[in-house]
Amino acid sequence: MNKKELKKKYLEKVKILNNYNKNYYVNSKPIIDDKNYDDLKNEILDLENKFEFLKSKSSPSVAVGHKPSKHFKKSPHRVPMLSLGNVFSEEDLVNFEKKLYNFLSLSKKEKISYIAEPKIDGISASLTYKNGKFYKGLSRGDGKEGEDITQNLATINDIPKNIPLENCPEEIDIRGEVFIKNKDFKNLADKFANPRNAASGSLRQKNPEETKKIPLKFIAYTFGYEKGLMVNNQYDFLKKLTEWGFKTNPLNKLISGVENLMENYKEIEKNRANLDFDIDGIVYKVNNFDLQKRLGYVANAPRWAIAHKFSSSKAVSKILDIEIQIGRTGALTPVAKIKPINIGGVVVSNATLHNEDEINRKDIRVGDTAVIERAGDVIPHILSIDKQKRSRNSKKFIPPKNCPSCGSETIKEFNKVTKKIDAVRRCSSEGYYCEKISIEKLKHFVSKEALNIEGFGKKIVENFYKLNFIKFPQDIFNLDFTKIENLDGWGKLSVQNLKYSIEQKKNISLEKFIYSLGIRHIGLENAKLLSKHFVSFTKFKNLSKQIDYEEMLNIDGIGDTQVSSIKSFFSNEDNKKVLNELEKVLLIKDAIQSSDNGLLNNKTFLVTGKLNGISRAEVKSLIEENSGKTISNVSKKLNFLIIGEKPTKKKVDYAKQLKIKVIDQTEFLKMLNKTS
Ligand code: IVH
Repeated sequence: MNKKELKKKYLEKVKILNNYNKNYYVNSKPIIDDKNYDDLKNEILDLENKFEFLKSKSSPSVAVGHKPSKHFKKSPHRVPMLSLGNVFSEEDLVNFEKKLYNFLSLSKKEKISYIAEPKIDGISASLTYKNGKFYKGLSRGDGKEGEDITQNLATINDIPKNIPLENCPEEIDIRGEVFIKNKDFKNLADKFANPRNAASGSLRQKNPEETKKIPLKFIAYTFGYEKGLMVNNQYDFLKKLTEWGFKTNPLNKLISGVENLMENYKEIEKNRANLDFDIDGIVYKVNNFDLQKRLGYVANAPRWAIAHKFSSSKAVSKILDIEIQIGRTGALTPVAKIKPINIGGVVVSNATLHNEDEINRKDIRVGDTAVIERAGDVIPHILSIDKQKRSRNSKKFIPPKNCPSCGSETIKEFNKVTKKIDAVRRCSSEGYYCEKISIEKLKHFVSKEALNIEGFGKKIVENFYKLNFIKFPQDIFNLDFTKIENLDGWGKLSVQNLKYSIEQKKNISLEKFIYSLGIRHIGLENAKLLSKHFVSFTKFKNLSKQIDYEEMLNIDGIGDTQVSSIKSFFSNEDNKKVLNELEKVLLIKDAIQSSDNGLLNNKTFLVTGKLNGISRAEVKSLIEENSGKTISNVSKKLNFLIIGEKPTKKKVDYAKQLKIKVIDQTEFLKMLNKTS
């Protein structure tokens, strides 16, 4: 490509990006998801890095956001409002920190402290205070100049109009995020697509009286221009902000070490849905202002801060059909079949619709155009639909009155705890009557956490079921291997392996056995409680003779819901037969009465890498049986790191650095055998 062609290609990309920016910053209506936006921006920056001549004043590496809209008076930021670089993975984060160490030429021994601040997805604003008085408020605009929205900002209760004079700097621009809480957004949901748009739209009302009607919030996190600010680090600055009457994010934390940043990230990402405001990542800022100063800026972002984004992306596609999936416990889950679309690097063709209440609430119909969100490993779901694009003859979704698999009546149960009708519709059949439920039960029976029959995957279960090889769990132990050997894709060796895997798992703990039955509401934890309570299979099986169920209520952790589920399990003849037949083929070990003076008492363990012939779940239960504990990260709290094949190098290195004992599988097992 010659220079001219390169320039043309480059400018085309910049034009597209500017259009995205305009929609995001000025119209408050993003037309692209974050991931694709970042990808395009990175492509442009890459081109600029490779071909210096491409850079211009309007380059995205120089400009931030988009020029302010015409409604409001423009005003320059005395200190530019910058953007932040992004990281998406632990690896990116390690690299970010490496760069800091290199730049500052720090030795590994010196720890950098960060403030981790959940990144609220709202609209940033800069508030100038002169001698403690709120003087002027600007939007971010293009980073260099913003819109004067002082009157609108003044309607927000969280924005103090006066800072107590005795400890406030002569002049300071306080910067933070204007946003709307999710619960308040619900009342505006028909006007705006998401809380961020609602905040932006409300803030940009021409008439401040209109803004006043919306319960906007403000959280402060940084400053721009300042005169007389006597603070040395972000931690103290955040403290000062609260003294001055600003709200700061209650989840802000002082942290050092990538491992700990990751732990905090995972914790917050896990709880993200429970927060009352939208966050799209975590901002890490080097705590010490001297270090911040030394690090300075690159292009339009500080070198001393980074945004660790959550992996969520959105895209628009069409709903082709609504299918019903049937789970192991009979739950009917409607699933939207969508026109395949790439969302953040993954092709998505299904989106869960959760249940029919959700479909009704959002009035989702076949043929609709929908915004689909994919976050982390969670199944994609539908955020909203565009009713304007709906065809006239589209029809409301009607939930099936009968199970699409077995024809039994479908029901919505009354939940005794919440005193409400369940949102989930279920197939009312019991035991192994419904084909789809049976298949799911069998998949569960052989799964990792249950019998853990290696090589017996979901596809094999489906195939063997269709071929009538297995209908009940006990059939797995009476398979006709000569028939299997003749099937397509099977041979002598694979059949031998399967036979061996099945044979190996005939020896099972009571706890795993109870779990593998797939009784509704009896997960791993409850199965453990039940196995401790009954101790032997015989006592557990006796439940079928209508022994006092109420006794189970004395088990700490077992409630009405679990007891009635167990009752209905034992009232079904299929289930009783399954128990009798499995008793014949399995060796179900009694529960070990646990004590607090086991061999591994007070010891903590972590496994990294693949172990040989023993699953992690099994190691975990071995440890617990012997009064030890497993933890999920290498930290000072860890006593033993058990390594298998291909361990995570970082974990091993860090453990060695902390002088934690690193042992292999044999050494671990020896620890248990010594006195047993
Ligand atoms: S610091 C120079 N802190 O993220 C530092 N920004 O992509 C730049 N944001 O425009 C800002 N929470 O709208 C900072 N705790 C936080 C933040 C935060 C949200 C937003 C802000 C900024 C954008 C940068």
